[in-house]
Amino acid sequence: MPNALIQSDLNALETRLKSLVQSDVAFIELIGEDLLEAGGKRARPQLVFLAAKALGFEGERVVDFAAVIELLHSASLLHDDLIDDADTRRGKAAAFKRYGNVVSVMSGDFLLSTLLGVISEFGNDAARFVKLISQTSRVICEGEVLQFQVAALETYSLDNYFKIITGKTAALAAAATKGAAMLAGRDADTIAALETYGLEYGRAFQIQDDLLDLMSDSDTIGKPVGGDLREGKATLPVLYLLEKGVTEASEILARRASEPSDVGRMRDLVALHGADSASKLEIRRRCENAVRALSVLPVSPARLALEDLAMRETERVI
Ligand code: IPE
Ligand code: IPE
Ligand code: MG
Ligand code: MG
Repeated sequence: MPNALIQSDLNALETRLKSLVQSDVAFIELIGEDLLEAGGKRARPQLVFLAAKALGFEGERVVDFAAVIELLHSASLLHDDLIDDADTRRGKAAAFKRYGNVVSVMSGDFLLSTLLGVISEFGNDAARFVKLISQTSRVICEGEVLQFQVAALETYSLDNYFKIITGKTAALAAAATKGAAMLAGRDADTIAALETYGLEYGRAFQIQDDLLDLMSDSDTIGKPVGGDLREGKATLPVLYLLEKGVTEASEILARRASEPSDVGRMRDLVALHGADSASKLEIRRRCENAVRALSVLPVSPARLALEDLAMRETERVI
């Protein structure tokens, strides 16, 4: 996915992240090394760099902001794997499996504390960015807890699903692109357009992640498959089956895929009823909205790269 346009920005980001995750405590350092070496896609920093470039803006503060966004993402993953009881991440044992819950939770908090320090150095922009990150983190927490609540109370609906993915994933993508427009000092309409791009792209990204969770294999995605079902989470393809009244799908979900053949059977049902193609159609629709939002920007290689990123989302395999 990395784009040649932003390769030097991505290199600068790695250097910045390295300096930010240093700690005298060895276990925190190990988590920091993971963050740098485990092969995360840096999808959100790419959004920051491309959005800033599409607005003709670059500089050290863009790299700092991309680091802030990636630190928030990394903190959310440390906490997410623990709450999802997910054994693997990026092809390795998840941090809480290797170092335990204490290290995982506190290192997540360490990263959150670190990113606040970076924003504090944003001069006159600091307060606006604290507000952006504060709102975004609150919404991510709400998305994660709503997801848990919906599974616990079995209040499955498309409306709840879109609220969940908007909160836990799209809000951060939107902060990435909106923040880039804020850094570039753009007017409210441009900031709103970039926010819309991030929201719609972020929703599409999470739907694709949910499809991969069910339909891919763990060697390819580097994390467990079928985890959503085992946690009682009804993602878009499964919700389409529930909407169609496929009782076998409701039963598998209700018993949280506890029988060995359940995940495989749910895949078959999804394929049989075209719920995978219907989900991909929704991804495309979201990505078309994202691309449309960019029409306020002048045509440039960076804008085209953002459009391309969105339009290739259904092909993403990792
Ligand atoms: C994983 O995000 C969490 C989701 C919101 C789906 P990524 O798929 O961007 O994870 P990394 O950083 O590339 O590992
Ligand atoms: C990720 O949701 C959202 C956050 C990390 C906030 P998922 O739980 O679906 O992501 P993966 O599949 O574990 O990466
Ligand atoms: Mg998870
Ligand atoms: Mg998932």
